[in-house]
Formats: sequence, C-alpha cells, structure tokens
Amino acid sequence: GSIGAVIVAAGRGERAGNRQDGPKQYRSIGGRAVLARTLEAFRNNPQIAKTVVVIHRDDHELFTRAIEQTDGPGSLIVVEGGAERQQSVLNGLEALESAKLGHVLIHDGVRPFVSNELIDRVIGTLQSGEQAALPVIAVSDTLKKSEAAKHVDGTVPRSGLYGAQTPQGFSYRDILDAHRAAAEANKSDFTDDCSIAEWVGLPVALIDGEPENVKLTTARDINVADEKLTFATA
Ligand code: C5P
Repeated sequence: GSIGAVIVAAGRGERAGNRQDGPKQYRSIGGRAVLARTLEAFRNNPQIAKTVVVIHRDDHELFTRAIEQTDGPGSLIVVEGGAERQQSVLNGLEALESAKLGHVLIHDGVRPFVSNELIDRVIGTLQSGEQAALPVIAVSDTLKKSEAAKHVDGTVPRSGLYGAQTPQGFSYRDILDAHRAAAEANKSDFTDDCSIAEWVGLPVALIDGEPENVKLTTARDINVADEKLTFATA
C-alpha cells in the first residue's frame, strides 16, 4: 500500500508562555516559515504519496502565506485541528481514509529539520514488518525529580530512557483504530501517537532519531534556528 503523512500544526504555542507572539509554526527561520520547511521535507520525499496538514481554524490566512513560500506544489490536503494534539491527528488521519494507505507517518509541524534519511528510516522499518516505528534519542543528562520545583526530591536513573521524536510511523489502519478507541474512551492526554499505540498494545520499534530534529517550542528555539540557517546560507 502507499504511504501518507499527517503534519500537525494546529497548536497555539501557548504552553511555552509566549501567547503574544503567536504560533511558532508560522514564524520565519532563514527567510521561510517553519511550517513551509517542514512540509517541504515530506512533499519532496518520493515515497510519500499524500500529505495532510492540520491547521487551526483561525490560521488559514497565515497558512496560505506560509505555503506561497514553498517549492513544488505537490498535492496537499488541508484540514482543521482540534483542542488537543491528539484530536488534530485524528482529523488528519480521517482525511486520508479514502486514500487506501498502507502506512502513515505522523509529524509535528514544529520540527522543520527532519531529514530525508530519517523519513526513509521510519518507512524502511515499517516495510520490514514493524507495526510502529519511533525515532528516539537516548537521554544523556542526569535526570532530577522535583514536585515543588525548588529542591530535588530524587534522581531518576537514565538508563533505558529515551526522548521521543517524530515522524512516528504506523500501519494506517492500526493507528486510525487506536485513535478512535482512545477518543471513544475519552482519553485525551496522550502527547504523542506511539503512546496511543502502546495503550492498545501495539509493539513500537525504536529507531535512531536525530539530534538536529528538535521541536521548536520557545522563542529562543526559533531564534537559534533562524541564526543557524542564516549562517548556513550566508
Ligand atoms: O503543543 P505540542 O507540543 O503538543 O505540539 C506539538 C505539535 O502538535 C505542534 O506542531 C502543534 O502545532 C501540534 N498541535 C496541534 N493541535 C493542537 C495542539 C498541538 O496540531 N491542538
């Protein structure tokens, strides 16, 4: 079956405490919107047949402007998101139902530095028979726990702990069914799609993530990314 991609970009960017400067996915880095760069990575990968982008209902204008800056039109489906990331993903998955996909990759719109190699690695893992593929980075910092955020309560052993990235890859049917089951069960606190796969008991294969594949969350992240790209093209 063919392969699709869902790029979620319907967040408000408020969790980073930057309410006033708006959603990060529309900020410009190296002269182009974050989301434009993210979308290009998927639309330029010849293995991806269809890409859905999930945006907020208030962002149609921002989105149109961002997309004017992208190379190669390619076919792109635009749908609106929900209050939580999980809902936005489900809307994206449902928009692909008629496409008869074998696999789907689900990716954060705020990770514009995803490489072609990583996308291919996720796809390759699915094609080798895994039901879910998760790019990870082993944790290298020592991890501390503190409920009051004032003094340390304890140290969490970091061995066997990983940071989860996207794109996360799945068999299309499995992840659509898992998302629907989660919605039906009124479970809405999943922060990535592999945790929904885990919840329904699907095995999730670890693959190597990339340190460059950061999630642009704070205003500082945006500035660092902008500087990096500006230097690279100067
Ligand atoms: O806020 P969070 O870290 O979950 O955001 C990860 C990605 O999910 C971002 O690209 C954001 O735009 C997207 N998102 C979404 N719909 C929401 C919340 C987040 O598409 N309701």
